[in-house]
Amino acid sequence: MLTLELEDYMKLETQCLHEGYSPKNGEPRVVPIVQSTTYRFDSTEHIARLFDMPTEFMYSRFANPTCDAVEKKLAALEGGKAALLTSSGQAASLLSILNICSAGESFIAAAGIYGGTVNLFGVTLKKFGIECIWVSPDASLEEIQKAFKPNTKAVFGETLTNPALAVCDIEKFAKAAHANNVPLIIDNTFATPYLCRPFEYGADIITHSTSKYLDGHALQCGGVIIDSGKFNWANGKFPDFTSPDESYHGVVYTEAFGDLAYIIKARMQLMRDFGCYPSAHSAFLLNIGIETLPVRMKQYCENALIVAKHFSASNKLLSVRYPGLENDPYYALAQKYLPKGTSGVITFSIKGGRDAAVRFMDSLKLASNVVHVADIRTCVLHPASATHRQLTDSQLEDAGIDAGMIRFSCGLEHVDDIIADIDQALLSV
Ligand SMILES: Cc1ncc(COP(=O)(O)O)c(C=O)c1O
Repeated sequence: MLTLELEDYMKLETQCLHEGYSPKNGEPRVVPIVQSTTYRFDSTEHIARLFDMPTEFMYSRFANPTCDAVEKKLAALEGGKAALLTSSGQAASLLSILNICSAGESFIAAAGIYGGTVNLFGVTLKKFGIECIWVSPDASLEEIQKAFKPNTKAVFGETLTNPALAVCDIEKFAKAAHANNVPLIIDNTFATPYLCRPFEYGADIITHSTSKYLDGHALQCGGVIIDSGKFNWANGKFPDFTSPDESYHGVVYTEAFGDLAYIIKARMQLMRDFGCYPSAHSAFLLNIGIETLPVRMKQYCENALIVAKHFSASNKLLSVRYPGLENDPYYALAQKYLPKGTSGVITFSIKGGRDAAVRFMDSLKLASNVVHVADIRTCVLHPASATHRQLTDSQLEDAGIDAGMIRFSCGLEHVDDIIADIDQALLSV
C-alpha cells in the first residue's frame, strides 16, 4: 500500500495502476501470482493467534496475497475500507445478503436488477427462508418506506440495471435504508468506480461482477464485495455482529474488528464455509484488466453514445434506451450519478419483435452473439431468450424487457466499423 498522504491525492487513473501492491527494493514490479494453498509458520501458537486476529495469510480458501492486492485496489477505487473477492458476481450478491440476513428475515430490492440476481433473491434465497421484497426502481421515498417490515435488514439496488439501463437514485434509496437503520447495497457492475462511486451518495456496501468491465477482456468470472466501513452494525438491529459467533470461537465482530467487521465476518464465516474464493491466477488477470479501466471506460462511453444516436435515427427500431441520450427517461439521473458517461451498453427494440431481433443478431458479422456483456469486443444478447429466460412475463415487464429487445454492448473497435456492421445487419430486418 502506498502511504496515506500519497493516496489522498491520487486520481483513479493512478490508483488503478498503483494501489494494492507496492514492491520493496528488488521485488517483482508486477503483482506476483502466489500459487499456494497454504503458508508455513514457526509455531502452533502463531497459527492460533491468527485464528483470533486474521492479520496474515493462513489458507487460500479465504485469503491469498495476489487476491489481497486486488481487494485493496478495488477498496481504494470505490473509496471503501475493505473488500472481499469472490469467484463470481453471483457469489458476491449472495454473500452480501447472507452476511446480513438470516432465515425469517427480509430485505428490499429494486426490481429490474440483473435477471440472475432476481432469481437468486426471489427463488433461491426464499428457499433459505429469506424474503426479498421488490419495489419499483422508480418508487418514491414513501413507497420504499411502505415496503419495510420489522424484520427488513437491507436494501439492494443496481447503479445501472442490466439490461433495461434504469439509473438508480442512490441517494433516495440510501435515505430510505438509513431511516430504517439498515444498509444500502449497490451493485455497481455496469458503472464501475470510473463512472460512479456509490459510497459518495450514501451506499454502505458495493458489489460487482468483476467478470464485466473490471476484467474487461472476458477472461475469468469473478466478483467483489466492498464495505465503506461506515455503517453502524451496533445499532441494535444486527445481533449477528454484536453477539458471540459460536462458529468462530465466540468472536463479537464489532468489538474485535471495528470498521472491518462486515468484511471480516464475510471472510471468516461465509467464505470459510462456502469457499467461493477466486484463484490467485484469476485475481492476477483481473488486476491486469483493472489497470486499463479508465482508458477503456472513456472509450466505451464515447463509442456507445455515437452508436446510440445512430440507432435512434433508424426507422427500423421501436425504441432505444441509453441514459446518455437526452430523451432517455433516466437522462437527468444519469447526469447526476454518471456524468462521465453511461457505459458501453445500449438496449433497443426492433420493429417486428422476437423474429426480427433474432434475424438482426444472426446477421451481425463483427459483433459476437455471446452470453456476456461489457467486453472489449462488441457483443450482443437477446435477454428474453438467454439471461432472463427464467423470468415470468410480469418479471420481464418489471425488468423493462420485451421480446424484441436486444442488449448491445459496444466494444473498443473503431466506432465506424461497429456502425457499418449494424447497418448491414439492419438490412436483414
Ligand atoms: C449487474 C450484474 N450483477 C451480477 C452479475 C452476476 O455476475 P457473474 O456472471 O460474474 O456471476 C451480473 C452478470 O451478468 C450482472 O450483470
